[in-house]
Amino acid sequence: MNLWDVPSKLASMDEQRKKTNFGFKEVFDDEKPSLIRDLFGRVADRYDLMNDLMSFGLHRLWKRHFLTLIPKRPHMRLLDVAGGTGDIAFQFLTSMEDLDPSVVVYDLTPEMIQKGQEKALDHNILQGIDWVCGPAENLPFDDHSFDAYTISFGLRNVTDKAKTLSEAYRVLKPGSPFFCLEFSQIEGPLKPLYNFYAMSLIPLIGKVILDQKDAYQYLSESIATFPKADAVSAMIREAGFCHVRHEGLCSGLVAIHQGWKE
Ligand SMILES: C[S@@+](CC[C@H](N)C(=O)[O-])C[C@H]1O[C@@H](n2cnc3c(N)ncnc32)[C@H](O)[C@@H]1O
Repeated sequence: MNLWDVPSKLASMDEQRKKTNFGFKEVFDDEKPSLIRDLFGRVADRYDLMNDLMSFGLHRLWKRHFLTLIPKRPHMRLLDVAGGTGDIAFQFLTSMEDLDPSVVVYDLTPEMIQKGQEKALDHNILQGIDWVCGPAENLPFDDHSFDAYTISFGLRNVTDKAKTLSEAYRVLKPGSPFFCLEFSQIEGPLKPLYNFYAMSLIPLIGKVILDQKDAYQYLSESIATFPKADAVSAMIREAGFCHVRHEGLCSGLVAIHQGWKE
């Protein structure tokens, strides 16, 4: 190859690389996981505190309601993807103590997992929980190996939503549910106030408390660019799930999606 051809070859290789969004920015698919790991790695220590502050504690109510929707049965094995610091896993285990449940918390960011493990120790939750680090798009688990799959405030962050959903479908046992809790698009009179809060105040709070304005700017941008609930339902159907439906909470600010593997 002639040296003069190198720049055009490189440009055409870049053209073939798939792109995704990272907040309002476009990045190559293969760049996003390290950007996400870096971002959540920086905020992991204060992640729970910031969740409480920025949602005024509402995320706890949303998660509690989310978990009540999942049908419980004895010896149930849950996979909680993008499980972060373990909120869903802990509530799942404590809500069905008598039924011998188990959960795998799976997340891309080692610091989030480490924080979750420290929390588990503090709360003396040591049985029935495993922590595994990796991408939602490529799960290191056998086909048909879980009784339920949850992803809470995680689908917005993954690089490839379609691959994430098809992996969810693959690892679920037939007849088992997929549940997703995620931000959606708020409607009604509170919309302008919420938009101001999300786009201006959240990054400011991130700056003042953590000196991490860009991380919280990303949070707001990723909420703004996440598809509407109907479009998310269509993706879940596309992955093979049936009985797909969603419910909005707080005027559509967040949505709970579900689908079932036949
Ligand atoms: C907003 S936090 C949600 C944590 C927790 N589920 C909750 O509801 O509090 C998003 C999490 O998704 C994880 N994440 C982002 N992209 C991921 C991917 N491709 N695969 C697995 N985890 C991912 C991040 O590391 C982070 O811990």
